[in-house]
Amino acid sequence: MTNKILFKYIDHPDQDKIATYIENGGYLALRKALKEFKPEELVELIKKSGLRGRGGAGFPTGLKWSFLPKNMNKPIYLIINADESEPGTFKDRQLMEYNPHQLLEGTIIAAYAIKCHLVFIYIRGEFAYCAQQISRAIQEASSHGFVGKNILGSGFDLDIHIYRGGGAYICGEETSLMESIEGRRALSRQKPPFPAIEGLWACPTIINNVETISNIPHIINNGAEWFASIGMAKSVGTKIYCLSGHVKRPGNYELPMGVSLRELIYEYGGGIIDDYALKAVIPGGSSVPILRADEIDVKMDFESLAEKGSMLGSAGVIVMHDGTCMVAALQKLVKFYEHESCGKCSPCREGTNWMNKILKRMLAGEGRPEDVDLLYDVASNIIGNTVCPLGDAAAMPVMSFIRKFRDEFDNICGGGKPYGTISFPFR
Ligand SMILES: Cc1cc2nc3c(=O)[nH]c(=O)nc-3n(C[C@H](O)[C@H](O)[C@H](O)COP(=O)(O)O)c2cc1C
Repeated sequence: MTNKILFKYIDHPDQDKIATYIENGGYLALRKALKEFKPEELVELIKKSGLRGRGGAGFPTGLKWSFLPKNMNKPIYLIINADESEPGTFKDRQLMEYNPHQLLEGTIIAAYAIKCHLVFIYIRGEFAYCAQQISRAIQEASSHGFVGKNILGSGFDLDIHIYRGGGAYICGEETSLMESIEGRRALSRQKPPFPAIEGLWACPTIINNVETISNIPHIINNGAEWFASIGMAKSVGTKIYCLSGHVKRPGNYELPMGVSLRELIYEYGGGIIDDYALKAVIPGGSSVPILRADEIDVKMDFESLAEKGSMLGSAGVIVMHDGTCMVAALQKLVKFYEHESCGKCSPCREGTNWMNKILKRMLAGEGRPEDVDLLYDVASNIIGNTVCPLGDAAAMPVMSFIRKFRDEFDNICGGGKPYGTISFPFR
């Protein structure tokens, strides 16, 4: 079996057009789902497949769907989260640009499974081409009877709307995203109630990531056991790893869950640019704890990375060579979180600003020896003290950078020169 499921046709010209998609087996899963399964059976099938969310938290998809209240007299909504703003993450974009019908087919099946008749695809504002592609795909699918009234004679009706994102990282957080769709500023909501109980316009709502939903047609076509047999025991299926930074061949690599980080960097990524030594890797998007070069013999799945004190997150793998100054790299990250904090919770709003100030002071050569502990202390007072996890996302890198590279922070605060000059592998 080829490793590729979602990217199987990535190099195929015109896979984004419905005729080619259908030629390559597209929309067979939809026909099968509507004909052979009751909605509840599909929820069970997805549960059995072991599919877990690819948006960051790895929550089991079928289980999430099963939280929807039964027999409630309210509409159920499905939101596809295509906001993709986590630094180092660029897989959903490629899935939408090159294979929009795969996402659409998964969306229609998911909507049928959860008895939803109105879907919102929330696309990052800057992704203009993705929005065009998805919009065209919806029109094509409608003209083939896959979207709209009485889909393929099944009696199931579905409308799909595109919502262009509000242009902020926080818009990808599910509760802020719903605020944004409802026409307000994207400020996160307190949970509970969870969206499955009270989401969009206080109605039951399921929110799933683009990659999560793109897997659905393949599970219907090939079965839950097939999917569960790929990858690791608890992290199943393939994963699209977004490899960036100081590697020779950056890009998206779809591989079975559990590929080793070393293999990803050195075999798929071709090793470190200019044959530098490796210094550090952020394995799951900018908000997860960093790993040192001697920690890369780890499998890239939810459990193995958690055992190493980090996270798979969105699988945005950011590689840094030994010319990188970790203080400067951290300041770039913290500046991002300071800018993107929605401002609702004081620990995040004030804390990200304070951390950025301390780091800027360090880089200007004005750091005081006590600043390292102060920085750590500010981060540890943000973590767990905000409504949404953006605060944690800002604090976790800070604490892990200090824990793993404390000598660099102490050195710069003691009047030393930065170790390395290159501040960060991306702008
Ligand atoms: C600050 C922040 C930003 C997020 N951005 C995204 C995003 O761009 N795309 C995404 O799918 N999930 C994002 N998430 C996670 C979502 O809140 C949600 O858990 C996810 O869309 C659920 O989908 P899944 O179960 O398929 O993973 C973000 C979370 C936080 C805290």
